[in-house]
Amino acid sequence: MTTTPNRICQLFQIKYPIIQGGMIWCSGWQLASAVSNAGGLGLIGAGSMYPEILDEHIQKCKKATNAPYGVNLPLLYPNIEAHIQTIIKHKVPIVFTSAGNPSTWTQTLQNEGIKVVHVVSSVKFAQKAEAAGVDAIVAEGFEAGGHNGRDETTTLCLIPMVKKAVQIPLLAAGGIASGAAMLAVMNLGADAVQIGSRFAASIESSAHQNFKEAVIAAEEGSTLLTLKELTPVRLLKNPFFEQVQAAYAAGSSTEELKNLLGRGRAKKGMFEGDLIEGELEIGQIAGSFEKILSAQEIVQEIVGQYNLTLTQQQAL
Ligand SMILES: Cc1cc2nc3c(=O)[nH]c(=O)nc-3n(C[C@H](O)[C@H](O)[C@H](O)COP(=O)(O)O)c2cc1C
Repeated sequence: MTTTPNRICQLFQIKYPIIQGGMIWCSGWQLASAVSNAGGLGLIGAGSMYPEILDEHIQKCKKATNAPYGVNLPLLYPNIEAHIQTIIKHKVPIVFTSAGNPSTWTQTLQNEGIKVVHVVSSVKFAQKAEAAGVDAIVAEGFEAGGHNGRDETTTLCLIPMVKKAVQIPLLAAGGIASGAAMLAVMNLGADAVQIGSRFAASIESSAHQNFKEAVIAAEEGSTLLTLKELTPVRLLKNPFFEQVQAAYAAGSSTEELKNLLGRGRAKKGMFEGDLIEGELEIGQIAGSFEKILSAQEIVQEIVGQYNLTLTQQQAL
């Protein structure tokens, strides 16, 4: 990858414009620090952590890397004020917010010198985030793992439309796990990429080995976006997913779907490795993974492919 000035590399003071998306049950301090040490930006996923756990992960991350790192904060988190205080206390340099209104906390964080990035899945919300004063936007297409937009706009369609609508730096997310895909979205106007699924199946991911192996075994068509009435989420098709499908077929109400999902399904699946009863969040691109790799290997592989594809493109 060339070291041409890049808006995201400059904003975050990182070597490569590769961000590891915050992921519940997967991105603790080990993964975040490994990605940051590899020259990207690692994010601790605060969405599955109690405040004291987040505190511990930030402290360990700071010990494990001298490079910039960040925290991903889903804004619907019930104890959000405690997380905000922890982030400010530890002088976390970068916060990626998601799932909520960016105008609530952006200014508070920026007043502390923290860079704020917000994740969106539509042009309308990208404009709202820019108006709220965030430093950059992640536009995430519906092929992405985890919670997702209702409109099903794919990354290929979303990035050029968001690019046209906003001026601030833009990161593309959803379906990116190779250097060729990274170059493609950068050709569409992205300044950087946010990658989730590929890092969920890395050595440093805190997910259970069973989940990582299920992700590696995934093929094209192994995931589907579901539970749109609650929060749309892309899941690996497993027996729990089949239960959700059966509930739809039986005409279940939103309340019944909520009861079926219950509490702790994601932890059960991704962290405890229960592939039968657990919820397994992953993106479409998992169908292309062949091996569990280290974060360093993933970053190096992507950078190598990016450079090769760019050279081939320039030779055309
Ligand atoms: C297992 C998993 C958990 C995720 N959890 C979160 C989260 O807590 N907060 C968030 O903003 N995004 C979350 N995401 C989305 C990622 O941060 C990232 O934007 C997305 O995975 C990018 O698409 P990809 O999976 O195709 O790489 C999650 C994704 C996965 C796969």
